[in-house]
Amino acid sequence: MFLVAVTLAACAPSSPASPFNVIPRPRTLTPLGGSFELGSETPIIVDEGDAELSRLVELWAGPLRSATSWSLPVATGPCGPDAICLTVGGTGPAEHYGLTVDRAGVRVAGTDHAGVFYGLQTLSQMLPVRAPNTAAVRIPAAVIEDGPRFSYRGMHLDVGRHFFGPEFVKRYIDQLARYKMNRFHWHLTEDQGWRIEIERYPRLTEVAAWRAETQVEKNSDPFVGDGEPYGGFYTKDEIREIVAYAAERYVTIIPEIEMPGHSMAALAAYPELACTEGPFDVGTRWGVYEDVYCPTEETFEFLENVLTEVMDLFPGEYVHIGGDEAPKERWEQSPGAQEVMEREGLADTDELQSWFIRRVARFLNEHGRRLIGWDEILEGGLAPDATVMSWRGTQGGIDAAREGHDVIMTPNSHLYFDHYQGDPEAEPLAIGGFSPLEQVYSFEPVPPELRQDERQHVLGAQANVWTEYLRTEDQVEYMVFPRLFALSEVVWSPAAERSFTDFARRLPWHLDRLTAEGIRYRTPDVIGLERDRLTTDDHYRLALSAPVRGTIRLTRDGSEPTADSPAYDKPIELDLENGPVTVTARVFLPDGRPGPSRSARFEQVGLRPPALVSAALEPGLRVELFELRRVRGVSDLDRGEVVRREETESVELPSWTPEENFGLRFRGYLLVPEDGVYTFRLTSDDGAVLRFANITVLDHDGLHGASARVGDVALSAGFHPMEVRYVQAGGATALRLEWSADGIDFQPVDASQVSRVIR
Ligand code: ACM
Repeated sequence: MFLVAVTLAACAPSSPASPFNVIPRPRTLTPLGGSFELGSETPIIVDEGDAELSRLVELWAGPLRSATSWSLPVATGPCGPDAICLTVGGTGPAEHYGLTVDRAGVRVAGTDHAGVFYGLQTLSQMLPVRAPNTAAVRIPAAVIEDGPRFSYRGMHLDVGRHFFGPEFVKRYIDQLARYKMNRFHWHLTEDQGWRIEIERYPRLTEVAAWRAETQVEKNSDPFVGDGEPYGGFYTKDEIREIVAYAAERYVTIIPEIEMPGHSMAALAAYPELACTEGPFDVGTRWGVYEDVYCPTEETFEFLENVLTEVMDLFPGEYVHIGGDEAPKERWEQSPGAQEVMEREGLADTDELQSWFIRRVARFLNEHGRRLIGWDEILEGGLAPDATVMSWRGTQGGIDAAREGHDVIMTPNSHLYFDHYQGDPEAEPLAIGGFSPLEQVYSFEPVPPELRQDERQHVLGAQANVWTEYLRTEDQVEYMVFPRLFALSEVVWSPAAERSFTDFARRLPWHLDRLTAEGIRYRTPDVIGLERDRLTTDDHYRLALSAPVRGTIRLTRDGSEPTADSPAYDKPIELDLENGPVTVTARVFLPDGRPGPSRSARFEQVGLRPPALVSAALEPGLRVELFELRRVRGVSDLDRGEVVRREETESVELPSWTPEENFGLRFRGYLLVPEDGVYTFRLTSDDGAVLRFANITVLDHDGLHGASARVGDVALSAGFHPMEVRYVQAGGATALRLEWSADGIDFQPVDASQVSRVIR
């Protein structure tokens, strides 16, 4: 406990502030002491004859000149003193740079132009947020060596559910680039709107880009629409301009054209592409529609023509073809689809979907491009060379990497920025889920399950911004910031260098910049109240910090802090002798506005005694499978019947479960090495519950997407009877149990820690 308190205290407002606020955190940053004085006449010196470098100088210095009226003259030639010098070359991995600031000047050396661009983003973050009205500013001296951990650093935007104009898209890309993100996944077609001009098929923009109205609340039964026609699309010229704008910032756009599902809008314009007759309407409600493209020659001709125009607009290597959430009912009932299955020797509609995607992949490959699809493209077999975007947790990514395919991690457990980032009662309406800032920050793109040679297939990670409930630009920004900053550190910074506490210390500079630029964000929660705590002591030393400029105010009785509540200025001792204490805290911004409240409960508990085990034990757990008729929660297991019993090494989904409507019960003993408070993290989709003997430690029951619960339990050394129950109703699956203790990162509960009775 002592160590943790000291680390947290290091970022309390009273500690001396580090002058370095760079996000994502550089690979190495060595402060030198002293500073360089950047002034009105500081020259910027670039390599002779390098037009790209000159362009980068203008991109960087232009806004600074107009904000300050400084001249910042540009020269070519060798670097001299009292200058900012930019060079490209030398050997080293792509996108790397070195940045040195000392009394003699600033030197940025990139292994390529992207590296120089990133070096300049870092340099910007070493300046004051607002342009100085003085003659010069001091840049703190340091040596930085930096480069990305992953080659794919992505952000997505769904412009189908709601349309966002070209100016907003450019602003979005600009923010990505400042945080060293290099891929923009543009989700251009949806059931509720087709957003890209295709010359050969004018009805896509005349008909498919417009819907009659939009579902307003989450519940669509009965349907309540807003009665307002809605739509929009990007012209080819607008797209070319955005592609060029992105390229100038080293962002490659991945266009997504959804198939075979999420295609109602296209079917409304061209009903002959469906398996049934239509007519169809552009979608007005959210969810998944049963009508999809029929796998006919007419469909492939349409899709190939569309993709040809798409490839002409987007020069990047990858085209995303969706592939998610495509119901097979229409194919099951369609004589045309059945005929294709017979002709191609396909056993079922999963294989038909696989054949469909392979055919499109081949077309893209023939044109020098590569296919990305959501993880459903694994079903029925992956197309050669296909890259998988793993969204239903990370399992799809693990499977694909094991098959030797490249993978991009976008799990809905951590990286769905349409999910709530605080108490749903206090947040604007969102689709569901819960992915607060610290959860995004904690994401590790490379699953520990992968072998060394399989890990290279994880190209990186991406966050997705689905816009069913995001109608306005403000709402998108609110969901994206500051979670984008956390993501940038996940995909850029070395895993070992990541620290949420230090990240939170650096946040205020970046939130200030958003404010200065008129970009909305969600005020982050006070740091230190992420979860309830147990301790065996009669007091708890609580350190809080504010990841945004302002004053933390708190209460100890569960009430909402007001402007009159006590201000936090240093770690506090919570006296737990007379019972648990609930601390609620929020930040009041400098203008007086309160941020969101967060509460945590602190409680003194006794150590749970170990069990007396007389039976012989061996490593591992017993796992039982229950087939269930209808799944609501883990109590269904009480009424179910065990249909299979196996031994297992960890709490994970076995390969032999049915696809839906089942339950699992894992039982055994956890061997605790020494007395202490242990923390468990249970990730599941759907419900799961962790119990030790007669107490429930984690209750994550119910039908929900992949998400985690974390909780403490105080255990004496010895064996503790442990049980995990899990249920799966259908759809995506996830199950994982991890433990941690003070100073130890979360790690899976494995066979070395669990034992079962030999029978
Ligand atoms: C998805 O969220 N349907 C990829």
